[in-house]
Amino acid sequence: MIRINENYLKLKASYLFSDIAKRVTAYTQANPDKPVIRLGIGDVTEPLPQACIEAFHAGVDEMANRATFKGYGPEQGYAFLREAIAANDYAARGCPIAADEVFVSDGSKCDCGNIQEIFATEGLKLAIPDPVYPVYVDTNVMAGRTGANLDGRYAGITYLDSTPANGYVPAIPAVATDLIYLCFPNNPTGAVATKEQLAAWVAYAKANKAIILFDSAYEAYITDPTIPHSIYEIPGADEVAIEFRSFSKTAGFTGTRCAYTVVPKKLVAYDVAGNAHPVHALWNRRHTTKFNGVSYPVQKAAAAIYTEAGKAQVKEKIAYYLANAALIRKAVTDLGFSCIGGDNAPYIWINTGTDSWAFFDKLLNEAQVVCTPGAGFGKCGEGHVRISAFNSRENVEKALARIAAALKA
Ligand code: MLT
Repeated sequence: MIRINENYLKLKASYLFSDIAKRVTAYTQANPDKPVIRLGIGDVTEPLPQACIEAFHAGVDEMANRATFKGYGPEQGYAFLREAIAANDYAARGCPIAADEVFVSDGSKCDCGNIQEIFATEGLKLAIPDPVYPVYVDTNVMAGRTGANLDGRYAGITYLDSTPANGYVPAIPAVATDLIYLCFPNNPTGAVATKEQLAAWVAYAKANKAIILFDSAYEAYITDPTIPHSIYEIPGADEVAIEFRSFSKTAGFTGTRCAYTVVPKKLVAYDVAGNAHPVHALWNRRHTTKFNGVSYPVQKAAAAIYTEAGKAQVKEKIAYYLANAALIRKAVTDLGFSCIGGDNAPYIWINTGTDSWAFFDKLLNEAQVVCTPGAGFGKCGEGHVRISAFNSRENVEKALARIAAALKA
């Protein structure tokens, strides 16, 4: 008799953003005359930077010619892209990361979800922020590292509460943990961590022989020059941290698919006897076994982000979304809500103090605007909603006018 992985039964029936999509589809089918503006899932709307488009086309042309055609590429990514990443995202910031520590992939969602496979399932102590990008929790539930979900929380996870009281930057837990998820600039709150705060996490990880999984998919939105873009800006972080980066929100690659994960060679994890093993070799084994690399034209397009023209064009797109974020912050503040985010991140986290799904429904039904209910990100997300700055200026302005009208009514 074929049996299922019963850990899946512990999960909510569907993934947060699938749940929202279903509600929005039901609404639009019932109200075809009421166009909806989507400020829910963080999906970009502006086209790829011109430098990427040109490189993408050139890559396709190479595939059309026998002399330049490419079959399977290196699973870890082409050297031209890995070297551009190491030079621009790390060496330029003084981080000790080499090109062969960079693994190119088709998305940070997949990498954040897959990485847990190389760590033990039995007895591993997890520390996960709340609220949080649901992938971190759900993939650990699937792997069987948690107990049942009781009252909105899984047994076996040390939750790191991010609340108005701590400025949405969680404190280091009083107990030892082994695998720690951190995301800065944060999804969903938009909060950022200072160098001192990250240094404290690095020290905690070292003291506990733990590993930090650092998701910095939104680093391109940092405007404050004192805020670190990478955890490797903290000395010694290459001994305790894996970093995830994505071109999705940086350069509009949500539909093109390209990201990378950094696994430093110094990073080790232990077997049951306490012997240290390099994590780089384990991830390389997993990656080469289960992944055949990102398509060549896509990697060419990604490498173009690091050209002079590409850098300028990326900056322009980020500035565009951050200007949307500033409008959103102002509008919700004028409506009397407190909020965080939007200044170093594309998300604005609004403290509504009310049931977050009810607030979601109100905005959908009365303003035809989609946001993301905070409860979908965890227990501490209740009483909040997230508004994304990813849309055209015209739609953001229209959405804000509709929200103001609906909430003032
Ligand atoms: C979000 O809206 O939280 C993100 O777009 C989801 C993702 O990057 O997978």
